[in-house]
Amino acid sequence: MSEAIKINLAGIEMRNPLMLSSGIMGSFSSSLNRLSEHAGAVVTKSVGLEPVEGYKNPAVINYSHGLINAVGLASPGARAFAEELREYAFYSPLIVSLFASTPEEFARLVEFFPFVDGFELNLSCPHVEDAGLAVGSDPDLVKEIVMAVKRSTNKPVFAKLSPNVKDIVEIGKAAEEGSADGVVAINTLKGMKIDIFARKPILSNKSGGVSGEGIKPVAIKCVWDLYEELSIPIVGSGGVSSWKDVIEFMLAGAKAVQVGSALYYSNRIFYSLKESLIAYARMKEERLEDLVGAAHRR
Ligand SMILES: Cc1cc2nc3c(=O)[nH]c(=O)nc-3n(C[C@H](O)[C@H](O)[C@H](O)COP(=O)(O)O)c2cc1C
Repeated sequence: MSEAIKINLAGIEMRNPLMLSSGIMGSFSSSLNRLSEHAGAVVTKSVGLEPVEGYKNPAVINYSHGLINAVGLASPGARAFAEELREYAFYSPLIVSLFASTPEEFARLVEFFPFVDGFELNLSCPHVEDAGLAVGSDPDLVKEIVMAVKRSTNKPVFAKLSPNVKDIVEIGKAAEEGSADGVVAINTLKGMKIDIFARKPILSNKSGGVSGEGIKPVAIKCVWDLYEELSIPIVGSGGVSSWKDVIEFMLAGAKAVQVGSALYYSNRIFYSLKESLIAYARMKEERLEDLVGAAHRR
């Protein structure tokens, strides 16, 4: 283990700044355990109070620079998911991602997971009604939701923001005012792909969320803007597939970085990113934490 790549994210001690993004590895502890061996922290698939079946296939498709998904927040519901997570081995900290429609529902969800290290609030999924982006685009509601969750737990709470809002900084500030411990930027962008032979959208839900390499410049700009205005830590997300992407996000202001779509192309990615970051820190004789926001100071 290298001291130089350790990160403290709002009180969560991480052996490296790499986190598994929500939703990428489904809802089983066995998959989370495997990835947590090398990731600095793991975020679960978003879970709501009741089971949700999600959309029919095709629910995930690829395009030239990433993926488009409309999984529809499929989940087993909080009670069953809490049981499943009892098998999580805690090789690295566990953050549970929650989705709901009201502050009260968010607060109730927290009570199912007293054994986890933190919570991420999905205020940003672009392809469901009454949750995700539907609640995450109203700054007053975002503040209320964060406040309600903070009243229910003393664990760190992160608000996951959408690029599909008028002003992501306004939403980030609302989360900060509600006492969020950090923000995650960004969730997927709204998108669609049409089969030119069948002449219809390919996803069963027609539209979905675009992720992967293609959205990285959008995510970097969002992290940059949030860093200028917020005092709480920012977690970067969107298109990370190489160690250079991790460094770029950190220079823009991210304290930690989530990896999602890249796992579809390599299931060894956490190991290889971690090893590259150790080599980078050694070569530069620097601690990674010192890079956070450094591009703003030049
Ligand atoms: C198949 C799939 C499922 C996802 N499910 C969730 C989810 O349940 N909750 C959430 O907050 N984000 C979800 N996301 C968004 C990712 O967590 C991540 O924010 C986004 O994909 C951008 O990162 P990436 O470019 O590294 O994939 C999902 C993304 C994909 C591709």
